[in-house]
Amino acid sequence: MSNTEKKRYYEAAPQDIDIDNFRKVVESRRSVRKFTDKAIPEDVLDACLDLALLAPNSSNLQPWTFYVVQNPAKKKRLVKACLGQLAAKTASELIVCVARTDRIDEMAKRNINEFPFPEVPAMVKKYYKFIPYNYKTGYFNSLGNFKKVAFKVARTLDKQLPVTAFSTDDAKLWASKTTALACENLVLALRAYGFDSCMMEGFDEPLVAKILNLNNQQYPVMVIAAGERAEDGVFFPQYRFDRSLFIQKI
Ligand SMILES: Cc1cc2nc3c(=O)[nH]c(=O)nc-3n(C[C@H](O)[C@H](O)[C@H](O)COP(=O)(O)O)c2cc1C
Repeated sequence: MSNTEKKRYYEAAPQDIDIDNFRKVVESRRSVRKFTDKAIPEDVLDACLDLALLAPNSSNLQPWTFYVVQNPAKKKRLVKACLGQLAAKTASELIVCVARTDRIDEMAKRNINEFPFPEVPAMVKKYYKFIPYNYKTGYFNSLGNFKKVAFKVARTLDKQLPVTAFSTDDAKLWASKTTALACENLVLALRAYGFDSCMMEGFDEPLVAKILNLNNQQYPVMVIAAGERAEDGVFFPQYRFDRSLFIQKI
């Protein structure tokens, strides 16, 4: 390697992955609506939550919090907020997955302070100084409105522009998109450890927010019921429509 050539970070892609087991995990994940009373061991639950946190996420800003609701009184209120669904009632664990837009600045700073190189590249520092503005909307949407105008002008100049938040709804969508990916990691991890789950959005959002004391920039995306699948916990075989409806190679 010449002196002028930049040394790049290298991470090997393991090739010895058992695809059959991966398939088994994905294909055997079902929405389970009834659980046994077997507890999920704490170390298994923690391992699954850790795998959830490895999900890809927008700009590595990790805009999520997972509330594992174990306090009996809170759990009882949460079951009620989940409309008393059987999955919630019988679950050994209830996890509220919350997308949040109130820690963008903090997470951007962390990306600089905890960047895993001894010296933080200038580009990374610059990126994380700028990126919060992409997802924030400001007081009374001032920043969102400013961006709306700026983007409109830039588009007339044939500029390509990234996804950005023009409104609090956009910011909510941004954080929710990423949080849902972690949710999928979580349910697949549970399955890999022999446990099951049911993602639920059948819940009273303001009530869930109240139980968890959430602020108005923290959005419960889904509640995940988890536990051991009861024998009669899956109500019907899995089915999907023809793949041609969903996949287009263009
Ligand atoms: C975002 C989301 C919300 C859901 N909400 C509920 C719910 O409130 N209650 C429920 O029983 N199932 C819920 N489901 C499960 C779906 O009904 C289920 O995934 C779908 O019917 C396909 O079945 P499968 O998961 O067994 O493949 C939800 C799934 C997702 C992804």
